[in-house]
Amino acid sequence: MNLDDAIASRRSMREFLPDPVSRDQVHRVLEIASRAPSGTNTQPWKVVVVAGEEQAKVTKAIMDYRLEEAKAAKPEETKMPRRYAEPYLSRRRKVGFDMYGLLGIEKGDKSAMWAQHGRNYEFFGAPVGLFFVVDRDLSQASWLDLGMLMQNVMLVAKQEGLDTCPQGAFLHYADLMHDVLDLDDTEQLASGMSMGYADMSAPVNSLETERVAVDEFSDFRGFQGVSGQN
Ligand SMILES: Cc1cc2nc3c(=O)[nH]c(=O)nc-3n(C[C@H](O)[C@H](O)[C@H](O)COP(=O)(O)O)c2cc1C
Repeated sequence: MNLDDAIASRRSMREFLPDPVSRDQVHRVLEIASRAPSGTNTQPWKVVVVAGEEQAKVTKAIMDYRLEEAKAAKPEETKMPRRYAEPYLSRRRKVGFDMYGLLGIEKGDKSAMWAQHGRNYEFFGAPVGLFFVVDRDLSQASWLDLGMLMQNVMLVAKQEGLDTCPQGAFLHYADLMHDVLDLDDTEQLASGMSMGYADMSAPVNSLETERVAVDEFSDFRGFQGVSGQN
């Protein structure tokens, strides 16, 4: 698989087959992905990989907690904007509308949406969960580094025949996750991720998200002459 194909075919999958993924497979993905660049080569990442009982422990802890919704921790403000302005709001709404449409969930059906959101914590049925952790003292720049590692992980996984879903949803329960993953006080969860073999018969996995055109998000300056030359 060439890079273009891996980038084009990677999509966030939200229903996985129970087929197992071995420790060696995940290890290999992380090994290749760890060539990601990072500021001054700090490599400010730690990855907790869970499967089997350890994965079930995470699911149970969050599901039990969700039953007592009132106690649910608020997302940490630095990670989750309290409100989205345009154009982000419309893009969020579009992907939500499309996804819930594929799932047959009607607008305003809060309990169905709540249940579907809960699938995040069951890793959408994937046999492996990854948690990306960063030191609390590090700055935004280190979060960029982590993002580069995560993107590498998703692309290498794709190349290895595996699918993924990056999951900020775990940050809704950041304090709980901190305890469940037994992180140090100096450590902070940045994102979760499900990994496994996507169930392509699940309608939700046919979701194709849009992208804005290059000319809408980029601003080329100082180029001269015919296109293709500078
Ligand atoms: C940092 C990050 C966090 C995300 N968190 C979630 C999540 O918690 N649950 C989920 O279903 N999708 C999550 N996504 C997936 C996005 O919704 C998805 O990437 C976006 O809609 C584009 O679709 P695509 O990944 O299929 O190209 C997340 C993506 C990123 C990059």
